[in-house]
Amino acid sequence: MKFKTTPYHSDLLKDKDRLAGFYNAILEYDSNKELAYDLGCGSGVLSYFLSPYFEEIISLEVSFKASQCARENLSGFSNIEVVNRDVFSYDFTKKADLIVCEMMDTALIDEEQIPVLNHAKNFLKENGTIIPKGIINTIELVNLERDNIHWDEDDANYEVFSHPQVYSELNFSDDIDPDFEEVISIEASKDGIVNGVKITTFTLLNDNMICGPTPMLNPPLLIPLDEKSVNSNQFINVKLKYSMGKGIESIKIEYVEGE
Ligand SMILES: C[S@@+](CC[C@H](N)C(=O)[O-])C[C@H]1O[C@@H](n2cnc3c(N)ncnc32)[C@H](O)[C@@H]1O
Repeated sequence: MKFKTTPYHSDLLKDKDRLAGFYNAILEYDSNKELAYDLGCGSGVLSYFLSPYFEEIISLEVSFKASQCARENLSGFSNIEVVNRDVFSYDFTKKADLIVCEMMDTALIDEEQIPVLNHAKNFLKENGTIIPKGIINTIELVNLERDNIHWDEDDANYEVFSHPQVYSELNFSDDIDPDFEEVISIEASKDGIVNGVKITTFTLLNDNMICGPTPMLNPPLLIPLDEKSVNSNQFINVKLKYSMGKGIESIKIEYVEGE
């Protein structure tokens, strides 16, 4: 099927690994199939994947342009209703069997996944399912070329100074505090100068599937720190703070001694 999209949603559609992950998670869903919410439906592609299986799909999208595209793309499906509304102001009247919400970003800092799910979960049946199911975040010490927060895209150059270390795991069924703050101890794997960290997010699509970063799904985030000389096997403590949904401006990071 050919989708009408905005340029941003077109890039999302071109990311085949991202789409395949969500498609397979929807295909593997085998519980009740009365009502699904597709939160932040964009072009409507995930609602399209849901359409053969659910009696009713309600697809919410805050962007007027994107919702118009979704409405046009999905006009042939009588079981899908596209609503141009912010999830926070939508009047939920029914509880769903499934919530699909792809407002993902690295560590969920720059998108509203956590605030949106904390709100919308009130409208999920007791034994209901959320796709994706959660995330795992890892952190590494790095030496960065650039001195601003940036994503690991084509022009990002850096050298890695530690093995990836899991520092947080989130299950979207839990109530999640959007404000993250933790001191993390990272073991350097070689001698040299570090001046930042790399954060990588893995998406748990369901109990069986995990998806690493793709170009449009959580490209790793590179965060600068002051320069520090490290030796192999030395532990470096960093205090990392951010607010999920408040953007990369909310990120604060510093070295801490002896914790
Ligand atoms: C990463 S895109 C995913 C689009 C589509 N589901 C897909 O997988 O291609 C996230 C979408 O969520 C929408 N969005 C973000 N916050 C929202 C909110 N509070 N309520 C409704 N939609 C929202 C954005 O406009 C964007 O279209």
